[in-house]
This record gives sequence, structure tokens and C-alpha cells, in this order.
Amino acid sequence: MTILDFQQAKRDKKKLVVVTAYDALFTRIVEQAGIQAILVGDSLGVVVQGKPNTLAVTMEEMLYHTKLVASAAQRALVIADMPFMSYQASTEEAVRNAGRFLQAGAMAVKLEGGGGMADRVRAMTSIGIPVMGHLGMTPQSVHVLGGYKVQGKMKDRAAVLLDDAKALEAAGAFGLVLEAMPVSVAKDITEAISIPTIGIGAGPCCDGQVLVLYDLLGLFDDFVPKFVKPYAHLKTDALQAIRRYKEEVEQGKFPSDSESYH
Ligand code: KIV
Repeated sequence: MTILDFQQAKRDKKKLVVVTAYDALFTRIVEQAGIQAILVGDSLGVVVQGKPNTLAVTMEEMLYHTKLVASAAQRALVIADMPFMSYQASTEEAVRNAGRFLQAGAMAVKLEGGGGMADRVRAMTSIGIPVMGHLGMTPQSVHVLGGYKVQGKMKDRAAVLLDDAKALEAAGAFGLVLEAMPVSVAKDITEAISIPTIGIGAGPCCDGQVLVLYDLLGLFDDFVPKFVKPYAHLKTDALQAIRRYKEEVEQGKFPSDSESYH
């Protein structure tokens, strides 16, 4: 999938389905399931690294996971998330870091922020780096936002989000993630811009949806936001399997004859 297919899907009114992946194994499974776009999200800081938020994730860590995903992906659009402080300080630094993700195999990058990021988006797209924006509850701003809270509930804040979306579109973003905002705000944005909106906690009117893979598989349950629907309960399954293995080793049942060489 290319960013042109991604944008065509909106015109064709076909829902876009995006999930995160951080390694080759899950990338292959996600592609087998027919997923069109994979986000190498900095959410890996929380679900893979076990940190309380995404702020400490580094460029080197994101590049490593991007390489794992990009080398396993055969069809999906691979989008790499730019980590905190890889694009905020200056446009020049942002462009250089974005370029490293394309060299690592990503086909696009994602960054958080509104109209203030428009110059970064313009500079990247002008040299051939497709950029996805991210508005609403932007986890890298968790301390400014006072926690992981729904954004745009008041009319004036909703209007700012709409202006941000238009500014990012005008700067050349090929799509936008809309995170944790009222359905009506996401709907207004989706209708006002011609690039696809990908919702996470932004209701059903977005052009597509994204979920963190470990949330949708029920692997990560330290904190489950209202917008997450676990489609499996792999943590429970994993616990059961590992406990059974432990029991069988302790009871001398594993390995049995069929798992032994003679
Ligand atoms: O890091 C991430 O996984 C994300 C998604 C939740 C959109 O930014």
C-alpha cells in the first residue's frame, strides 16, 4: 500500500485499518490478517519497554523496531512514529531524523502536534518524506495536557483542533491520527479535510481506525482506556500456558517420550 492508495480509500469511502507492530513476527501475522498499514508506534515505550509513558523512547530504539517491521512487511504501508525530541527542537533536526526512518525502511513518518508543526511537515514532504499528523490526545504532551484526557470537549478547543487539522493538510500531511476526542469533533474534522483521518478513541466517523496491537490482542492490561476493545485475551492464554509448562516440568511430565530423542 502506498500513501496514494491510503488517500484513495477515503475518496472510495473504504475504511482504513491500521495497527501498531514492533517486530517481524507480529508484522507477518498482521499482514496475514490483511491489515493495510502498520504504525511502528512509540507506544512501544509502554507496551514493550514497560515505561510509564512514551517520553523516554529514543531515535535509536525507534529505528531498530522500524527496521524489524519494515524488513518483514511485504505489502503494508509502514509508518514510523517520531519519538519525543526527535522533531520538536528545530525543523532541520526534524527533517534529518525523519530521513533516517525512510533509510530504515519506513515509507512515512508520524509526528504529534498541530499547526505549530506545519513547517516541519512542509519541509519533510517537500523533500519526499510523507508525513502523518497526530491531533487530540497527543501522548508526548502528557504533562502539558495534565494526563491522558479526552481533548476538544469545549467548543473553543474543538475549533483549535479543526484549525490544526486544516493547517496540517495544507502543509502536505497525507493523513491524520485523531486520538481521544468527542465523536462530533472527529466527524467535523473528517468532513472538513480531504486527507484520511485515522481514529483512536475518536468514534466511528473517522476514515479509519488504529489500535495498539497489544491492546487489541488483550496482551497489555496495565491500563485499558475506554476506547480499547480487546479482540482476544492473549495474556490469559499466555499465563495458562506458562503455568502448565511449569507444572509439567515440576511433575516430571515434560519432556515426555515424544519430545525426547533416542
Ligand atoms: O504510538 C502509537 O502507537 C500511536 C497510536 C496510538 C496512534 O501513536
